[in-house]
Amino acid sequence: MLLRRLLPLLLIAATAVVLAACGSQGNSVTGQSAAVESGSKLFVSRCSGCHTLSVVGAEGSAAKVSSAQKTNGPNFNKRKECYGNILYALRNGGFSGAIMPANIVVGKETEQVAAFLAKYAGSDAMNSTTKCPPTPANAGG
Ligand code: HEC
Repeated sequence: MLLRRLLPLLLIAATAVVLAACGSQGNSVTGQSAAVESGSKLFVSRCSGCHTLSVVGAEGSAAKVSSAQKTNGPNFNKRKECYGNILYALRNGGFSGAIMPANIVVGKETEQVAAFLAKYAGSDAMNSTTKCPPTPANAGG
């Protein structure tokens, strides 16, 4: 009898634990500037549906070509990106302007996401010869 009354409470408690774990899953960006840390959170909420980047647990890029969808964006574990190019992509909707929406982030958030991504993109890039100009100091990166 007691168990029957307690069971719903136990279920609610268990669900809360699972949900709490989901929210913080995978973002291992710590000890960085405030701008970069905010950028990492913005990336999780606004970009992870279409782009992969393991430092924040994002898996939005296509896992394989055969199951790719049109909205799957580049995998940022493998592709290095420079600050200025990221700003361009955010303002114009990717490099082509065809699929990624423009202005997903605006104003200061744009600089925070760019500072974050310029720092972390390309960590698994093989033989990358991309050399970026330094991220501007006022971007906080
Ligand atoms: C609806 C899916 C979608 C979302 C959301 C999205 N992107 Fe994209 N993104 C794409 C696609 C598809 C491309 C590749 C096509 C293109 O460049 O036009 C792309 C391209 C890019 C590029 C150019 C990369 C390259 O080397 O070609 C950058 C940088 C970028 N995205 C950053 C971001 C950031 C940062 C966010 C979050 C603020 C974001 N994207 C959100 C789909 C998306």
